[in-house]
Amino acid sequence: MRSTEGSAMLLNENDQALFTAAEAVRARAYAPYSKFQVGAAILADDGNIYAGCNVENAAYPVGNCAEPSAIAAMLAGGGKRIRRIYVTGPGTVPVTPCGGCRQRIREFADLDVEVISHGVDGEPLVQTLGQLLPHSFGPEFLGR
Ligand code: THU
Repeated sequence: MRSTEGSAMLLNENDQALFTAAEAVRARAYAPYSKFQVGAAILADDGNIYAGCNVENAAYPVGNCAEPSAIAAMLAGGGKRIRRIYVTGPGTVPVTPCGGCRQRIREFADLDVEVISHGVDGEPLVQTLGQLLPHSFGPEFLGR
């Protein structure tokens, strides 16, 4: 696995479990329009893994990304905070969360949480949320 510092890292036990969960749910993604199936898996503060996929819609803007699906699964299952998140998609280029999803992750994760982006046929990329979303606005601005 490569990090933004360029150091090679092996998948640890958590990452292997997250990758497996993200790939399993990615296979069920509903992406008939883009054909770009994405899976996301969260290791939450309760120690459980929660996964979600993208869900597209004939009314294109109404579709949603994999990350909010995984966040919804986390909240529904009783998890409250994201400790680590893995996003996987097709191809060799790491599927980094879109801008909106970075902000959605920001609501439930500290800035030092690592986001692992993976194109399934390539190498995973590890970045912190703070790297992905610098100078960001978050709940603490509103006293939360
Ligand atoms: N997609 C995600 O699920 N997560 C991202 O962070 C990037 C994009 C989905 C949305 C859409 O269904 C498809 O990928 C193509 O944009």
